[in-house]
Amino acid sequence: MQVLVLHGPNLNLLGTREPEVYGAQTLAQIDAELSAIAQDAGVTLVSYQSNHEGALVDRIQAARADGTRFIVINPAAYTHTSVAMRDALAGVALPFIEVHLSNIHRREPFRHHSYFSDLAVGVICGLGVSGYRLAVRHALESLGAASA
Ligand code: DQA
Repeated sequence: MQVLVLHGPNLNLLGTREPEVYGAQTLAQIDAELSAIAQDAGVTLVSYQSNHEGALVDRIQAARADGTRFIVINPAAYTHTSVAMRDALAGVALPFIEVHLSNIHRREPFRHHSYFSDLAVGVICGLGVSGYRLAVRHALESLGAASA
């Protein structure tokens, strides 16, 4: 049983990228923290980041056959543009939670629309890294895995 955490473009720069918007933690620190939460519940957490839309589509498709039961995804800028990633998530039909570090509704109008939200189990935005933690905890709970 596996939870997959997907990070879209530019999230590899976390820690140095607009820290006033996205916080000071690096992606490696966030992934390590999320892995530990899942591990406590006896679940494997796999993280994947890419700056390429097609690579993210491929990774979503692979989730259908690799034991993934739940996806937590921050599509980053592709949130606002990617019909291809939306279609991939619809295609694999795995439950997913959409996470954004910043509150996209307080920002520029082009960030207000998401191609993912109406397919998601839930959407968390504006809570920084807590949003990822809450999403992983919910995924574990919904899979019947006890988290500490
Ligand atoms: C983001 C919000 C997006 O609008 C932006 O393009 C990102 C990150 C967030 O986590 O707040 O890259 O998804």
